[in-house]
Amino acid sequence: MTNRKIVIVGASRGIGAALVELLHKDPMNEILAVSRNLNELERRFKKLDRVTVEQLDLTADVRQQATEIFSRFGDIDILINNAGLLVNKPFNQLNHEDISASYQVNVIGVMETVQAALPYLPSKGAHIVNISSMGGFQGSVKFPGLAAYSTSKAALCSFTELFVEEYKDTQIKMNCLCLGAAQTEMLEAAFPGYQAPLSASEMAEFIADFALNGHRWINGKILPVSLSTP
Ligand SMILES: NC(=O)c1ccc[n+]([C@@H]2O[C@H](COP(=O)([O-])OP(=O)(O)OC[C@H]3O[C@@H](n4cnc5c(N)ncnc54)[C@H](OP(=O)(O)O)[C@@H]3O)[C@@H](O)[C@H]2O)c1
Repeated sequence: MTNRKIVIVGASRGIGAALVELLHKDPMNEILAVSRNLNELERRFKKLDRVTVEQLDLTADVRQQATEIFSRFGDIDILINNAGLLVNKPFNQLNHEDISASYQVNVIGVMETVQAALPYLPSKGAHIVNISSMGGFQGSVKFPGLAAYSTSKAALCSFTELFVEEYKDTQIKMNCLCLGAAQTEMLEAAFPGYQAPLSASEMAEFIADFALNGHRWINGKILPVSLSTP
């Protein structure tokens, strides 16, 4: 018998895929795993009962796509906005598409996903966890080439604070985790050869536990989760 319904956006690989596998271990959890690559979602998760996969592209009509998907899934107790796009280019070489795609996936797509989720968040409460980056955390060390990525992740932090202000009289909680480096395809593509101190699964352990429990104590907060970045 399941009684906790969890949506993971950006679940086809990396930290998101590790989150699905980890959270599936608890028979209480029913999981909706979404991203663009439906074949990969099916390949990874088809053997797992209590995991449904759906295609969602954060670059277009996000609110409409997500509304249709969520209407099939029903109530959402936990929503983890994990999908992300990292463009690594010197500032002067960033074109309009690089900047707008970064903001579309990392900020606008998240905001519209949350809008679509609102009707499905139960009145007893829900926890929304936004996955940001240490690059978007105020005062952290910054890296050249990440102006589009890290400013968009900073906007995601800001959205978290603004959402919580508007929903402070409800049982909906939202927090934002600013991750340090974890070994994934995104990291390898952006920083070839760099060895992160954590695997995707190790990072997912913290995120899963926080998503399940953190909102009992914490709401509207921007939290650094990093072994690597000052
Ligand atoms: N790895 C790190 O060191 C690190 C550090 C700080 C923050 N983070 C953040 O942690 C999150 C996960 O990172 P990761 O390293 O696991 O990245 P990843 O391996 O590149 O995985 C990203 C996930 O996002 C999905 N995604 C990308 N664009 C999408 C779109 N337009 N629509 C829907 N889904 C989309 C991808 O699936 P599809 O391709 O199937 O769409 C994939 O499942 C990201 O938000 C990232 O910014 C990671």
